[in-house]
Amino acid sequence: MKESILTIVPLHCPQCAFRMSDPPKLRVYPDSVQKGEIHSGKLSCDQCSSEYRIIDGIAVFTTTGSDLKYLEDTDRSVESWICTHFCDVLTMQLPETKLRENDLTGFFAKQKEDRYYADLVDLLLPHLTPDSVFLDMGCAVGRLALELGLKVKCAYGVDPSPSCIRAARDILTSGKLSLSLGDASVPELSSSRSEFLIGDDTSLPFAKGTFDCVCCSSVIDRVPDANVFLTRVDAMVRKGGLLVITDPFDWNPEYSKEEVWLGHGAFGTKNGREEDALAELLQRYGYERIEEKNIPWRTFSHKRNHKVWTVYAGIYRKSSDS
Ligand SMILES: C[S@@+](CC[C@H](N)C(=O)[O-])C[C@H]1O[C@@H](n2cnc3c(N)ncnc32)[C@H](O)[C@@H]1O
Repeated sequence: MKESILTIVPLHCPQCAFRMSDPPKLRVYPDSVQKGEIHSGKLSCDQCSSEYRIIDGIAVFTTTGSDLKYLEDTDRSVESWICTHFCDVLTMQLPETKLRENDLTGFFAKQKEDRYYADLVDLLLPHLTPDSVFLDMGCAVGRLALELGLKVKCAYGVDPSPSCIRAARDILTSGKLSLSLGDASVPELSSSRSEFLIGDDTSLPFAKGTFDCVCCSSVIDRVPDANVFLTRVDAMVRKGGLLVITDPFDWNPEYSKEEVWLGHGAFGTKNGREEDALAELLQRYGYERIEEKNIPWRTFSHKRNHKVWTVYAGIYRKSSDS
């Protein structure tokens, strides 16, 4: 974790945030710092004495007793996420023989519609400035935060999966993608002004209204209650800032009950198109939709399985006086 980013976006106590609207800043107690990177230590709250560890450069803010399924991520699923996020880089850099062996589904065959993360960056960039502070909520292995961290003042990526966040930080610090398929390099990403934390919507260590833009890419159908999740995420967006929600609306009882599925009448919103229900819900929080798009997304599961989705992406502006 970079000391310099802590001065741009100070971390606040997520425990105190449950009880007070202005939670205190966390104090940093580093054990080991090298070239401005805190490798180990702790963050501590003077008010409630909560402590959060910094392990191998990553601050850990997970909630105990959480029923988050993603905590069970395995090395294989992390490798699948790296393939999904960095498909374009791997396609260009891995030897053809290696790719052929592992490309029974044609996942690595270059396809023009394989631009989900590039499309998201293109969609977001006109709304951001070099001074923007960005949060990718549910960032998995970090492609979006890593890319945007090259363009904005600071990009945070938060995910409850320790193995995904470890992979994101490894890519940030080494500029390398290490996979059983082979190694590839993304040297430019090692200058990304990004930072990764282990956490979730119940343990966000930021003051209210910290971010100019928060993106939740394909997350709202993977949390137990999209409305509760959005309330917590909304608190992180500054007045007049942006919330970007993308989702394939792949509701699944494994993650949430049908009564909270948007498009199915959840939270008193209309039955029908999920995107309309989402806009209706966000309007209650003071958001107006300013842009929308459908973006193809290919996800890699293993060499015999990939999926193609059509992800809805909506950009919503928060009212300046909400
Ligand atoms: C379908 S994946 C999408 C990953 C990434 N945003 C992308 O677009 O490639 C959903 C991600 O949400 C994360 N997630 C699940 N519950 C979460 C929560 N409560 N808060 C933050 N992230 C969460 C998961 O760990 C997972 O990485």
